[in-house]
Amino acid sequence: MHSARTYTALLVALLLTGPATAVDLAKGKALHDSICKTCHQSDYYTRKNSIIHSGAALNKQVTNCQQGAGEHWSATQIEDVAAYLNATYYKFK
Ligand code: HEC
Repeated sequence: MHSARTYTALLVALLLTGPATAVDLAKGKALHDSICKTCHQSDYYTRKNSIIHSGAALNKQVTNCQQGAGEHWSATQIEDVAAYLNATYYKFK
């Protein structure tokens, strides 16, 4: 049906362009660089005995570390920073 296909295309377009679904690597980097370098530098993410082995673990670590830094980040901010770290260092699929 034509109208159903149009509707689906519209929905897909909305999903692809919606701001709520897109991670923002630049924001993640900015947040990371202003908050996250007090206890460890970036070489910590590439250390041999890294404790992070999945995207989920990375997300959890970012959640814990921002609390440790005294922050109260939103889920979006946590995702942006985790996505930035993944794109730059971890490269989990
Ligand atoms: C209060 C000190 C502190 C601050 C601030 C901090 N971290 Fe951490 N972070 C740690 C410690 C300690 C570990 C090691 C945890 C362990 O080995 O169990 C760690 C480990 C990590 C790791 C895992 C490294 C690896 O691959 O093994 C990531 C990722 C990370 N932190 C991200 C962040 C981010 C993002 C921020 C900024 C929100 C941040 N950290 C701020 C203390 C801190």
